[in-house]
This record gives sequence, structure tokens and C-alpha cells, in this order.
Amino acid sequence: MNKVQRVSSLRAAVQAARKDKKTIGFVPTMGNLHEGHLELIRVAKRRADFVVASIYVNPTQFGKNEDLDNYPSTPEEDARMLAELGADLLFLPEQETMYPGALEGQTVVYVPKIGDLYCGKDRPEHFYGVTTVVSRLFNMVQPDIAVFGNKDYQQITIIRRMVEDLAYPIQVVGVDTVRTKDGLALSSRNGYLSKKELVVAPSLQQALQTIADQLQEKPVVVSKSAVKVLEDQAKASLKAKGFEPQYITVCRQRDLKPAKKGDQELVILAAAQLGKARLIDNLELALGR
Ligand code: PAF
Repeated sequence: MNKVQRVSSLRAAVQAARKDKKTIGFVPTMGNLHEGHLELIRVAKRRADFVVASIYVNPTQFGKNEDLDNYPSTPEEDARMLAELGADLLFLPEQETMYPGALEGQTVVYVPKIGDLYCGKDRPEHFYGVTTVVSRLFNMVQPDIAVFGNKDYQQITIIRRMVEDLAYPIQVVGVDTVRTKDGLALSSRNGYLSKKELVVAPSLQQALQTIADQLQEKPVVVSKSAVKVLEDQAKASLKAKGFEPQYITVCRQRDLKPAKKGDQELVILAAAQLGKARLIDNLELALGR
């Protein structure tokens, strides 16, 4: 696996692969790779002939009091795992490459509405940062497919919307969340959890499962008020376990608007603070089947 830092070297390698009639797959990451990321690489390998991974901890998607300075970094281990899985190229851009000049005053890519909900409400700058950096990376790599984890459900929904609206000729592929045996979604931020919190953390997914079970049992209860009761119960049960829930919401898969009576393709989204870690998770469900 080759490693490159410059856009010119990246483009030369991608162009050479294209000359050989290879399709290009792309997996953007912020490093500190875990099994969830490795699964994205495996999917990219199955779907494309030449796989580019990137590692860049994007400052514009972190809020002022978030963990940018302490974000875990394991570059050597990451490169080793990527090479083992057969990634073809690792792009390691520096800040000056991603954002030449001062951060303020840079062009921003903003997806309204979906980007303003949930995580966008709690962390207003977060999705601007994600869509801006992903759109820059797309322009640099120019892949045919780009692979993202479904764990960041709102993120991938927003990216799909951006790709459609800005006519990127890129297929966005979502990959199922990889979990520990007891159901905790893998995340680089799980490293902030203490041993005790690691035992409690799977309750987040369990709380979503409880809502899903109740909705499956009585799909007729999908009315605004009945859903709110289920969401509130889930928040209360998580609070009792030491979480500080930020949101738990049953919404429609296609546009992430709150579920209304008659909606069938649903997803339950959640974010909750547990100790130093902000955990997010989701659960898709289809009613009436
Ligand atoms: O999901 C992530 O790791 C990041 O948000 C991404 C897509 C690499 C953009 O920085």
C-alpha cells in the first residue's frame, strides 16, 4: 500500500488505476481504526478494484469544547491494518492541503434541514464540517463509490443528499454497524469509557430495541404523542443508568423527519453522553411487514 500526502500524488495514482480500467472505491476516516472501519474497507474491496482510504482528523467538524485536541491517533497501527486488508492507497493530507489558508472564510458545503436536526441541533457546526471535508475529499479522490458506516446514520443521510444535490457521480454505500458481543456500536470514542461505563453502554442499543419492539407490537401507536411517550420512557431508563440523553427520536428513514401515523420505514436515532464519551446509535425498522 502506498501512502501519499499531496493531491498531485493522489491523483496520479488514481489516474494510473483508471488507465488500467479499475473502478475506484474510497473510505474516508479520521483514523484510530477499529473493526467498524475495517469492515468499510472490506466492503470497498468487494465493490471496487482500487481502494483509497484517507485519514484526516477534520477540525471543522469539532465544536469548541469537543475532543479535537485529544482525538485518539494511532497512525502506524492504522496503516498496518489497512495494508493487511489490501487497501491500495492511503491518503494522509495535511491541514494546509485540506484547508489552504485560514479556516475562517473558507467555502462551506451546507445541507439544510436534515443537517439542522438532532446532532446538527446539538452541535451546529458539526455537519457543515463533515459535508465540507467530504466534498473536498470527493473532489480530490474522484471515486466511483464511497463507503460510510450506517452508525452515523444522520451523517450518511446528509452525504447522500449532498451527492444528489451537487450531482457527484459517486455511489454512496452504507455498511451495517459493527458491534461488541453485547451490542455496543464500535466507535473511536468508546476509548473514553471507563470499565464500568463499558458495561452500561450497550443499554443505549437496548433502549432503542425496546422502542422498536413496542412499535412492532402495536404499529398503530405511531402517532406523535404515543411515540413521544416511548422516547421519554427510553430517556428515563437511560438516565437511571447514568446516561445524559441528548435525543432519542423515531423518524422516517428517507428524510429523518419525525415519524407520523402511516410511516413504515423508520429509524430510531439516539445520542447520549456517558461519562466523557458522547455515544450515538440507531435502529432501523420497517412496520407493517
Ligand atoms: O465518519 C467520520 O469518520 C468522519 O465524519 C468523516 C466522514 C471521515 C469526515 O471527516
